[in-house]
Amino acid sequence: MLKIGLIGCGFMGTMHADCYKNMEGVTLAAVADLRRDKAEAVAEGTDAAIYADGRDLIATAEVDVIDVCLPTYLHTEYALLAMDRVKYVFIEKPVALTAEEGHALLEKSQRTGAHVQVGQVIRFWDEYVELGKIVREGTLGRVVNASFRRLSPRPTWGWEEWLLDTARSGGAAQDLHIHDVDYVLSLFGEPRRFFSVKNTLGEKNSYVHTLLQYEDFAVSVEGTWDLPAARPFEAAFRVVFERGVIENAGAGFLRYDADGAHPIAIEKKELAGGYKGDNISDLGGYYNELLYFTERAKAGEPIACATLADGVSSLEFLLRELAFQG
Ligand SMILES: NC(=O)c1ccc[n+]([C@@H]2O[C@H](COP(=O)([O-])OP(=O)(O)OC[C@H]3O[C@@H](n4cnc5c(N)ncnc54)[C@H](O)[C@@H]3O)[C@@H](O)[C@H]2O)c1
Repeated sequence: MLKIGLIGCGFMGTMHADCYKNMEGVTLAAVADLRRDKAEAVAEGTDAAIYADGRDLIATAEVDVIDVCLPTYLHTEYALLAMDRVKYVFIEKPVALTAEEGHALLEKSQRTGAHVQVGQVIRFWDEYVELGKIVREGTLGRVVNASFRRLSPRPTWGWEEWLLDTARSGGAAQDLHIHDVDYVLSLFGEPRRFFSVKNTLGEKNSYVHTLLQYEDFAVSVEGTWDLPAARPFEAAFRVVFERGVIENAGAGFLRYDADGAHPIAIEKKELAGGYKGDNISDLGGYYNELLYFTERAKAGEPIACATLADGVSSLEFLLRELAFQG
């Protein structure tokens, strides 16, 4: 049984716990949160030991892996400690706030041999995985142009409103836009050049729009959390190929060609804990990424997708977007 230690039982920690509770051969052995009620809620239905602080969990809990679901500004401190204790560490995205932190994490993982996965979950999200296959297999020909966007109301749920404090979260750029940046880099690699715009009015960098120029196609990546609460969250993409278009937006996940619009089916998986059908979509790519992570940990194999190096590269590209002057 793979024993999980989960640090941070807020929005994302709760999601991760639901995933672990629905996996075979995995047990939530320890949870930590400053807020006792949050830790108790996440531990419900398990025998998990409850800790008041992530440091105590890392120092004393009997666990095989540690999952850091803390606010971003705490990732580095706790992940560095975790790498001294266990061989597998999961760090939510963005991996850190600065390139220096990213390099400290890389250096520690190299020194300890700890395997680290970063929560760049879009790499595991069904529609994006399917798109990746179509791009790599070339079934619709080459990519002509592409657009990715992620638009959200302001995230007001965070503990002590840490998300709305750019110094602690990195703002919409680092917290939200990085999802698509990481995915685009994983799919197409580094662009030949890019052009980036962002706002300074109001909360700085709460809107970022970057155009990436590749050898023979161009990609637009747009992100903001400037929307009012009534505007539903939207994560969408449209990729134009030589022989068709793949779009994931309001109308669903579709392939368009000269004959019309064709829905693309996503296979639903059955989960060990009984979640299936519509429920699995609640867990989304989080289940897929954590299943990948726990399977690697069980097998003692290295992490090859959404690695620490990937997370740091995406963070560095994002920091270049923010520094871009035109
Ligand atoms: N992959 C995604 O799609 C996604 C979505 C949302 C959030 N996230 C990331 O997940 C991380 C957590 O975000 P969240 O939305 O869950 O935040 P949150 O505020 O909901 O939860 C953070 C929790 O950490 C706890 N905490 C703070 N300091 C602690 C400490 N020292 N020890 C133990 N617990 C402590 C808080 O009490 C809180 O419950 C962030 O890095 C965020 O960017 C990722």
